[in-house]
Amino acid sequence: MSLCNMKTLLAGARTDGKAIGAFNVGNMEMILGAVKAAEELNSPIIMQLAEKRLSHSPLDLMAPMMVNAAKHAKVDIAVHFDHGVSVQNISKVLEYGFTSVMFDGSLFPLKENILKTRDIISLAKRYGASVEGEIGVVGGNEGGTVDHIIEYTRPEDALTFFTEANPDALAIAIGNAHGNYAVAPKLRFDIVEETAKLVDAPLVLHGGTGLTEEDFKTAIRLGIKKVNIATSCYDALTLEAKNYLDRTPSPNYFGLNEAMIEGFYNRVKQHISLFNG
Ligand code: 13P
Repeated sequence: MSLCNMKTLLAGARTDGKAIGAFNVGNMEMILGAVKAAEELNSPIIMQLAEKRLSHSPLDLMAPMMVNAAKHAKVDIAVHFDHGVSVQNISKVLEYGFTSVMFDGSLFPLKENILKTRDIISLAKRYGASVEGEIGVVGGNEGGTVDHIIEYTRPEDALTFFTEANPDALAIAIGNAHGNYAVAPKLRFDIVEETAKLVDAPLVLHGGTGLTEEDFKTAIRLGIKKVNIATSCYDALTLEAKNYLDRTPSPNYFGLNEAMIEGFYNRVKQHISLFNG
């Protein structure tokens, strides 16, 4: 138990017909809440930090906290860098002991995405770390600064990408987007099914916030093995903190700290239970 490789976790999920929840964290309370939920359910998780969030959650502070939390956990936890684009930051997290990185080359043409992903794979290999690649474009972005237009993954491109780059996990775009959906997304589960038939890799679903239980179940049944959740847990933490402040005549940091942990923990727990089927 404790800090482990993402590839191993996803292989286990494939055998068990489950998916592993990958929870974005941005401060100590989120880390504590995520670990508490995983330990209580005796279930592995992926704890991840998105490159786009580093302005709020500095890498040099977050990375040691995440790695140490995983090392001391009673369950297996992979520590992952989400939507990495900068080679400098990817190298840095690997030095800090992250066991997995995503290289997000989804905005590059296919050939360039393959070449850049391959370079990251050779870099990560030196650290024994796993690599997640992406093909197709997921809507919005992790950080909410731009609104990428959804580009559904073409399963034949996924096959080319996987054959030529060979990542440990593959994120696909099926109409999903980051953040809260303004209108219900048009998810194309046929893309999950078709890609899973062609590509022998664990598939990743980004933009988990706002999807229904039924969406998750269908996606997992058809081949999704890692589900990314960020906004939903941030919102749960914020609401619990607000409730604490609203109901407490003389609020203090320690009460607020507990409320934040509780809000994050509850939402992570709901998701883990769902992904475990
Ligand atoms: P949400 O914020 O929509 O849950 O997306 C999370 C995500 O995909 C992180 O990469």
